[in-house]
Amino acid sequence: MADIRFENRVAIVTGAGGGLGRQHALELARRGAKVVVNDLGGSVDGSGGGSEAAMKVVEEIKAAGGEAIANGSSVADDAGVAHMVKQAMDQWGRIDILVANAGILRDKTFAKMELADFEVVLDVHLMGTVKPAKAVWEIMRAQNYGRIVVTTSSSGMYGNFGQSNYGAAKLGVIGFMNTLRLEGQKNNIHVNAISPVAATRMTENLMPPQMLERLKPEYVTPGVVYLCSEEAPTGTILTAGAGAFAVARIYETEGVYLGDKGLSVEEVRDNWTKITDPAGQQAYQMAGEQSQKFFRKMQETQGS
Ligand code: NAI
Repeated sequence: MADIRFENRVAIVTGAGGGLGRQHALELARRGAKVVVNDLGGSVDGSGGGSEAAMKVVEEIKAAGGEAIANGSSVADDAGVAHMVKQAMDQWGRIDILVANAGILRDKTFAKMELADFEVVLDVHLMGTVKPAKAVWEIMRAQNYGRIVVTTSSSGMYGNFGQSNYGAAKLGVIGFMNTLRLEGQKNNIHVNAISPVAATRMTENLMPPQMLERLKPEYVTPGVVYLCSEEAPTGTILTAGAGAFAVARIYETEGVYLGDKGLSVEEVRDNWTKITDPAGQQAYQMAGEQSQKFFRKMQETQGS
């Protein structure tokens, strides 16, 4: 099969001044994409900022013969996002790919967390994905082509001590993806999620050095770049780290129909084993499939 290339494609990669985003931007550019390198340039907790980090990556791309422009806006800032999209449109006239990767941490147990730290993390990860997606959505619809990759986390899917804010935001982007996938399909807009594990400044204090050595960001990037390609699936949560790749899904058990007459709390308790039995569990493709199952189970029981 032919190599995956991005000639004539324009990509925006947010938070691409370092870590994972930088690798995604470098690889997209190496494969022919024109890239907007966005980065606010602040510290891990989101304080400070400047456009040097983005500019450095642009220089790297140019030195390797690629095309890129820098943007130092915050992904959570409406005017900044509008400016980022305008830069891409003025320079290249289209936007094919959005990799929403920018992120910060404000870790604390929920007991000690200020709501302000909760809100700012939601703002950067969730609204910082929604705002750039909204700004490119009409462009992608008009082009009848688009690829969006949101960045989730195992902390959102499975939980992680001290990350209630981050986990909420990271599962939020999956909910966002699930609906964009449906709404984007007729215009060939595919929306996927990456759940990475990589040694970056975000994780340098969270894992031992021997582990970090095996977790280079460049081991995640091929998965992201595949999700940016014409061949990308849609609605997939790709997990990636250390060179390993897998897919995460939300499954629902087959469950049990308990009837609608005299239904009691005790009946739910007494049927807990059946309700939670994984045999026959399924990953649904849209919300309505769940209610279809409820009605099917009702009919099966009443018909028997
Ligand atoms: P990183 O800290 O190296 O990169 C994040 C980048 O986003 C930084 O360059 C930062 O300046 C930029 N940024 C922060 N706030 C911004 C804003 N408001 N506007 C624009 N840019 C902003 O961290 P890393 O690890 O590369 O993280 C990339 C993404 O991957 C994040 O969404 C993170 O939550 C996610 N992730 C990373 C994991 C890991 O193991 N490194 C695990 C799971 C998810």
